[in-house]
Amino acid sequence: MAIREIITVPNPLLKEVSKPVEGGITDEHRRLMDDMLETMYDAPGVGLAAIQIGVPLRIIVMDISGKDDAREPRYFVNPEITWRSEELKSWEEGCLSVPEIYDEVDRPARVKVKYLDYNGKEVEEEADGLFAVCIQHEMDHLEGVVFLDHLSRLKRDSAIRKVKKAQKFEAA
Ligand code: NI
Repeated sequence: MAIREIITVPNPLLKEVSKPVEGGITDEHRRLMDDMLETMYDAPGVGLAAIQIGVPLRIIVMDISGKDDAREPRYFVNPEITWRSEELKSWEEGCLSVPEIYDEVDRPARVKVKYLDYNGKEVEEEADGLFAVCIQHEMDHLEGVVFLDHLSRLKRDSAIRKVKKAQKFEAA
């Protein structure tokens, strides 16, 4: 496993639509998922989409267990939302590609998601709470959308300026 570099806004790759994994899940995909997970734990974060390390494939890793609990890595390949609740819930979101910025986003409170797991088995399950927030946030990345895109233009522009400024400061 290896820790990969996480790209941040306004990197244009984050606007790319990721492609489905075709022809089954190979060892190469599993290596990618292992790297993504290690990168996510190192950051640390609770979810990561492949495009955030520059790979435009529809792959997500996640671990929403509390930091004092045993690790519960989850893998989602070609995820699809098959149902959304009408009820919305507001949650303060953050993103490893938008460091240090947090803001409230409204999303369906519960969703059903269908995907292939690490071994290529098809799974469908219902998500609520942090799981629902996280899978919807990560699936946005597959469409080239970051959580800032759900905010006002003013908030989005200001967040991007802050991230760029922080990076210049880090580089200096
Ligand atoms: Ni994100």
